[in-house]
Amino acid sequence: MGSWLVLGGTRFLSHAVAAVAVARGHEVVCVARGESGRVPDGATLLVADRDVPGALDPLRGRRFDAAVDVATMSLPWVRDALDAVDAGHWTFVSTISVYADPLTPGQGVDAPLLDPLQDGSSPPPDRQPDAYGAIKVASENAVRASHPRSLVVRAGLICGPGDRSDRFGYWPARFARGGRAVVPGVPDQPMQIVDVRDLAEWIVDSGERGLTGTVDGSGPRTTLGAVLDEIAAAVGAPDLELVPVPPEALVAAEVTPWAGPRSLPLWLPDTHTGIAARDTTPAAAAGLRTRPIADTARAALDHERTLGPDRTRRAGLAPADESRLLTDRDAATT
Ligand SMILES: NC(=O)c1ccc[n+]([C@@H]2O[C@H](COP(=O)([O-])OP(=O)(O)OC[C@H]3O[C@@H](n4cnc5c(N)ncnc54)[C@H](OP(=O)(O)O)[C@@H]3O)[C@@H](O)[C@H]2O)c1
Repeated sequence: MGSWLVLGGTRFLSHAVAAVAVARGHEVVCVARGESGRVPDGATLLVADRDVPGALDPLRGRRFDAAVDVATMSLPWVRDALDAVDAGHWTFVSTISVYADPLTPGQGVDAPLLDPLQDGSSPPPDRQPDAYGAIKVASENAVRASHPRSLVVRAGLICGPGDRSDRFGYWPARFARGGRAVVPGVPDQPMQIVDVRDLAEWIVDSGERGLTGTVDGSGPRTTLGAVLDEIAAAVGAPDLELVPVPPEALVAAEVTPWAGPRSLPLWLPDTHTGIAARDTTPAAAAGLRTRPIADTARAALDHERTLGPDRTRRAGLAPADESRLLTDRDAATT
């Protein structure tokens, strides 16, 4: 078995990657501050703050078979890791937010990218709204330039247990509560997700096989209506009724798409529907297997229950806002 380095490992995807690598018998070292959670049983945590120069120096002189980096918004982190770590294979987790055109469906990895943000720090969002994608482009370039055997995984929406974004999890939690649930009245809108466990399994698989190149890491193309129906069938309460509300009515009620407070997660702005309609056949051909959405929904619901249903959500509609929407809609249609 091999030695693996996971830059991260205390939460969500990087935690899942470390867990899969441990389960396959690898010796796994995770590097994080330890503020987000614990590393999986069987992995070792090296406590380091990547904002501190030289934080990865303790790794110098050590050889790993494979390394996985999930650095989100920092080119310096990526460069420092490439400089300090000796690994036979390098996976960098990037994002589909690197693409310049978020609208056209069916695009592949050769589609035009945002301009790389070369200084790699994160400017205030009002100065550079695309900073996340632009920093990832610069980070990808750094990885390809300095590692001869690298895999860049441009992940789509990652869902399932451990997700703290409150996006996908809103729907299983809402549908399990039952009653009349507002859903976006755009059933044909493209949708594409990947379960964190499937993505992690494939990342470890790819590292073991030495897969190189750039791949969009997400599941097959489907629609928002199909995803919501599958979640409802898997975890919906017996009295659940889905009530589609047209986008114009949602906008008028100041409900926002995708994420954030007072939002309907997974509903995309008209300008961005292509981000959930990417060509992921290369990922499937390279071995990314995706489980049924029902399975992701059940696991996401379990996770939601551990977080507690009464917390302040980062995404989704509060019950009072949803009731008001339904009352207004009923008044408008009678
Ligand atoms: N979520 C999605 O739907 C989505 C979609 C597309 C792409 N992605 C990409 O997928 C990856 C997700 O990674 P993830 O799930 O592991 O979550 P993450 O939120 O990116 O956290 C990654 C790790 O970074 C560590 N970290 C944070 N600040 C640090 C610091 N100053 N020094 C050292 N370590 C630090 C955290 O541990 P500590 O806090 O314990 O230090 C954590 O273990 C990212 O690359 C993201 O861009 C996500």
